[in-house]
Amino acid sequence: MKLKSIILSVSALSLSFLIVALKPADKVKPKKFTSQIDSIISVMTLEEKIAMLHGNGFFSTAGVPRLGIPELTYTDGPLGIREEINRDNWNAAKWTTDSATFFPNGSAMAATWNPALLYRYGEAMGEEARARKKEIVLSPAFNITRTPLNGRTYEYYSEDPFLNAQLAVASVKGIQSQHVAACIKHYAANSQETNRNTVNSVMDERTLREIYLPAFKAAVQKGNAYTIMSAYNKFRGVWCGENEYLLNTILKKEWGFKGAVVSDWGGTHSTVAAANNGLDIEMGSDGTYEKWFFANPLLDSVKAGLVSEKTINEKVGRILWVMQQTSLKKNRSAGEMNTVKHSKAVYDIASEAVVLLKNDVKLLPLKLSAVKSIAVIGDNATRKFSTGGFGAGVKAKYEVTALKGLRSKFGKLASVKYAAGYKPAYLPTTNGQRGEPDNATNQQLIDEAVELAENSEVAILFVGSTREYETEATDRKNLDIPFGQPELIRAVTKANPKTIIVFTAGAPYDLSEIKKSNNTIVWSWFNGSENGNVIADVLTGVINPSGKLPFSIPVSLGDSPAHHLNTFPGENLTSEYKEGILVGYRWYDTKNIDPLYSFGYGLSYTNFAYSGLKTDRQVYKAGDKITATLKLKNTGKVSGKETVQLYVGDVKSDILKAEKELKGFKKVSLAPGQETSVSILLDVNDLAYFDTKLNKWVVEPGEYKVQVGSSSKDLRQTLMITVN
Ligand code: BGC
Repeated sequence: MKLKSIILSVSALSLSFLIVALKPADKVKPKKFTSQIDSIISVMTLEEKIAMLHGNGFFSTAGVPRLGIPELTYTDGPLGIREEINRDNWNAAKWTTDSATFFPNGSAMAATWNPALLYRYGEAMGEEARARKKEIVLSPAFNITRTPLNGRTYEYYSEDPFLNAQLAVASVKGIQSQHVAACIKHYAANSQETNRNTVNSVMDERTLREIYLPAFKAAVQKGNAYTIMSAYNKFRGVWCGENEYLLNTILKKEWGFKGAVVSDWGGTHSTVAAANNGLDIEMGSDGTYEKWFFANPLLDSVKAGLVSEKTINEKVGRILWVMQQTSLKKNRSAGEMNTVKHSKAVYDIASEAVVLLKNDVKLLPLKLSAVKSIAVIGDNATRKFSTGGFGAGVKAKYEVTALKGLRSKFGKLASVKYAAGYKPAYLPTTNGQRGEPDNATNQQLIDEAVELAENSEVAILFVGSTREYETEATDRKNLDIPFGQPELIRAVTKANPKTIIVFTAGAPYDLSEIKKSNNTIVWSWFNGSENGNVIADVLTGVINPSGKLPFSIPVSLGDSPAHHLNTFPGENLTSEYKEGILVGYRWYDTKNIDPLYSFGYGLSYTNFAYSGLKTDRQVYKAGDKITATLKLKNTGKVSGKETVQLYVGDVKSDILKAEKELKGFKKVSLAPGQETSVSILLDVNDLAYFDTKLNKWVVEPGEYKVQVGSSSKDLRQTLMITVN
């Protein structure tokens, strides 16, 4: 009674004040926080509680004004803080203050292999979210790249659970350092856009545990992610947003997740099942808010005894806990947008993301003083990538195109002339959606490009993909390079032997012909606001490329596991993950299939020599730590960064194991001639596989092969260890 009267009397004040008034903040321990949450819940009406569990706007959920509990506000992610839309529809709100920093796409960030950069991404996103008064950032997204065709491959990180986990943890910590919540997504087994709202992902338990869950588990347990988004698809026959096993059993009970589960937008399908099986907040459903599953129907279900009030209290408690970490935190920074610091973060991330695929005749880096005429060819040289396609983009404050970057770099030193060469176009459809790419060539544009290439010392071809082509809600049909570009590439390469390909994309394409016929290939991404500056600096050697592919690029689609086994996009709305744990390089290595470019591949303008790999011991037991050390030397003439990758393989096993798995990596910066000792720490427990009979992680005794190198296929040092 006493508590209630205090609360009612301070209803105009903020809840943070209330908490402080009830218990001095300096004495508050986690347990006491829980009891404070319970006290608050105890004075809420059922209607007030339920109002907090569903959207009251497209990107907001209600607070309790009477108690000073504020609304929760949400924003996409991952490319930047999205443009403001109207509260009740998807139309732009036409603000003049919602331009934001455009960050590199997910696979670009993964190509840095640099968790410190992911932290900076998160921190900057957090600051921009604060400035826009958003409490929950719908980022990071890190589903496993199961098929290269997934329309969202560009948004996600990589094909490897270990790499994903390291990057996800860093980016969550960065976002949450600003006291805004990360919302890790999309949980779980969300690997394709085809039939994404209905497809049923089916896999064995070992595959789930070893491939599809580790990054989520790490982001929850090591990153302390405050919120998580349930995926659109079904998992073993049950929608992820009402999946007892994923939400209650694994996430909440096994992993101890303290925060709130938010549905993907429109990804809620029931009231009672979703409420009882672990969903906390329903977002993005259709129709008036009161009619959503978690609105009046939930109220009725509680009254009918189908959902207990205890379950409702638990959900509200989780949301209040998220608020304690975010909106109710005292002395939060106000945040800031579009700062020089954020631009620098974009520049640094993109500069470590670009991958040098081929530099056979050392055409790169270009010498500013020696090159007098440059032909810049291709629509991607003038294209911006901050928006396009379906899904969240960014109203970028600015975005430097490749052409602009090159012109400002070469200035008066060289003539930089441009020809479009091709124009992206799509075949018409009757449903108003984007059609397949129109691959007809435009001979006039090709002729102009060829003439320019012939009359220039160097031709730089900006080809590849677009944000329209790689997009949420649609998978690609094949790996073909679209829009008739192959013909343009052939013609320009023939016209000028000094042709550099800059291939911009977020997912694998068929580069077989280019690899055969071109000496110089740079893989670039949707690099963010600083795109053109980064490209110009990579091409001129101000930046020495250090990106490493976060996915394998296959020779042909049929080599890729899900396609080889004909399990994509599934039959009868069921996608059976028949390849099991053999995803990405695990498949190529184990099946002895050479990819065109392997996972972890990327060249530099310098060379690195590996030597002296050793471990602190030769024999270990479960629970031990292994320290692997080696010497790394920059043997070239320029400074550079190398990502040392450590893979482990079980030499002899009774069960199927991948030939090797990434278990550690470290990015190292070295001056010319410099040598350093690199140590990588791993846990013997990280060598475990998930035993489905025992339902636990088991480290098999025996010999393990430890290999370090520059890519998953370029391993320079090997040793054996024994686990007893
Ligand atoms: C996407 C989410 C996104 C949400 C809100 C959904 O279609 O799957 O990733 O956060 O929309 O824009």
